[in-house]
Amino acid sequence: MNINTDFILLSKDNAIIAWNYVEHTQYQLSTSYSLRYVELMCKPQMYDPHNPIDKDLADYGLVKDFSSCTRDWGWDILSEIFHYGTKDLDTSNCPADEEAWAEAYIAHCEEILVKTNQKPPTTSILELEKIPLPTSPMPIITLEDAFLLRKTCRDFHAMPVNLQQLSVVLKATLGFRQAENNQNIPLEFSIRRYSPSGGGMNATNGYVYINSVGELKRGFYKYDPNDHSIILIKSTGRDLGSITNGQHFSDTAAFAILLTSRLNRLWWKYSHSRAYRMALIELGHHSQTALLSIAATGLKSWITGALEDTIIETELGIAGTHEQVFFCIAAGHGTDSPISKALLQRLNGNENNSV
Ligand SMILES: Cc1cc2nc3c(=O)[nH]c(=O)nc-3n(C[C@H](O)[C@H](O)[C@H](O)COP(=O)(O)O)c2cc1C
Repeated sequence: MNINTDFILLSKDNAIIAWNYVEHTQYQLSTSYSLRYVELMCKPQMYDPHNPIDKDLADYGLVKDFSSCTRDWGWDILSEIFHYGTKDLDTSNCPADEEAWAEAYIAHCEEILVKTNQKPPTTSILELEKIPLPTSPMPIITLEDAFLLRKTCRDFHAMPVNLQQLSVVLKATLGFRQAENNQNIPLEFSIRRYSPSGGGMNATNGYVYINSVGELKRGFYKYDPNDHSIILIKSTGRDLGSITNGQHFSDTAAFAILLTSRLNRLWWKYSHSRAYRMALIELGHHSQTALLSIAATGLKSWITGALEDTIIETELGIAGTHEQVFFCIAAGHGTDSPISKALLQRLNGNENNSV
């Protein structure tokens, strides 16, 4: 017999929980079961089929008759737990046809609305001075041109961009569209953006780090999609590289959108942590919209997920809340080079080098 490594042990509410993150099952272990389980973890050869505790541990799959785990996983245990822990939906109540799906969906929505007193969580907008953004028309370029122009730039000119360009990019990335009247959808849920949103919850939120845009002060701003304005949260002397894990070639970008997810809006509607995947995927959609709109405004772009999360969240005033930062999209004037100046110099210093 071997220990089933699909189980992790958790201490919760003064109890020990054995959690099979692959099968999505959990068992609370009494002290005697916990002690015996830990003993078997260290010496699985002590397994005794006549011991009732051992037999129970085997019946519930905590110890198993197999020699090794067959899953192929090249990352650490944390990513494996997340991936398999959110893999496969519970299909026990899977609707069999379209009508059954509609009925189940309404029941699900009603259950949430009753449970939470009708209201999804909202984020209060700071009552600081708002800076209205100009309502600039979106540039008209072909889809093919937008795709071709979107390329990663790691060579930004230290040049300001104008407020109109920032305005277009923010509107496209995070702005609200004109709400469509649909009597079957409560107003709260009819707010749409230019990118899709998991469950229509608009969990993605956005902030801007301004380096050099028109007359704006250098600092961190919050974007308010309700009236297409920005609000200065904090002036800063920081470079972009200092919050993107030392990627200082980005210091000359004019601005950067910092995408956050209000995870509480997702867990309000979806109790399963699989919704965390949806948060990430939604952020990716917003990022691509940002990139295409940056290309359409004639600017260059660069993205990164290598962020100093806690520093950024502290600067934005959201540290320790349900709102977490995930991704950064920088923009500015620049060349088409995906190789930063300093890296290029190094490479040119040694002709045999390439990336
Ligand atoms: C999820 C994600 C994370 C990325 N993180 C970084 C990063 O930390 N630093 C960086 O320089 N580029 C980053 N990139 C940009 C990729 O390196 C770039 O998209 C890739 O080399 C392809 O080049 P292209 O964007 O010009 O098509 C990231 C891209 C994605 C999609």
